[in-house]
Amino acid sequence: MTSVSRLESIYKDLEKEHQRVIKQMGRLRASVGVTDMVPLLDELRTLLIVHFAREQLPDGFYDALGALAESRRDELQTLIDEHAAILSHLNETLARAKDAGGVDESDLLDRVSNLLEQLSDHEQKEHQFAVDVLGAESGVT
Ligand SMILES: [Fe+2]
Ligand SMILES: [Fe+2]
Repeated sequence: MTSVSRLESIYKDLEKEHQRVIKQMGRLRASVGVTDMVPLLDELRTLLIVHFAREQLPDGFYDALGALAESRRDELQTLIDEHAAILSHLNETLARAKDAGGVDESDLLDRVSNLLEQLSDHEQKEHQFAVDVLGAESGVT
C-alpha cells in the first residue's frame, strides 16, 4: 500500500469518529443550562480522549500525515499540542460546571462556547491538512 492510500484509508476509518465529535458539538450548542451541559461535556471528554489518542497512535493518522508532509512537521506538532490544550480546557470547564460551591452560569456558557470554537478550529485545520496532503500527492488541485 502506498503512503497516500494508507493515509486515505486511515482518514476514512476516522470518519465515523469525526461525525460523532461534530454531532456532540451540535448537542452542546443546542443545550440549555448547566444540568443539560454536564453529561454532554462528560460524553465529549470520553469521545475526545479516545479520538485524540487514536489520531496520535504510532502508524496512525498523524504519523501518516507527517510521512507525507515532512516540511510541515511544525504544523503537525501544533495539532498535537492542541489536543492537550483542548482536553485541559475541557477538564477545567467540567470542574467549573460541577463546582459544589455554585456555578456561574454565564461564565460557563462562555467557556463552553470558547471550547467548541477551539475544537471546531482544530478539526477544520486537521481536515484541511489531510485534504492538502492528499490533494498534493495525488495531483488533485
Ligand atoms: Fe485532532
Ligand atoms: Fe480529529
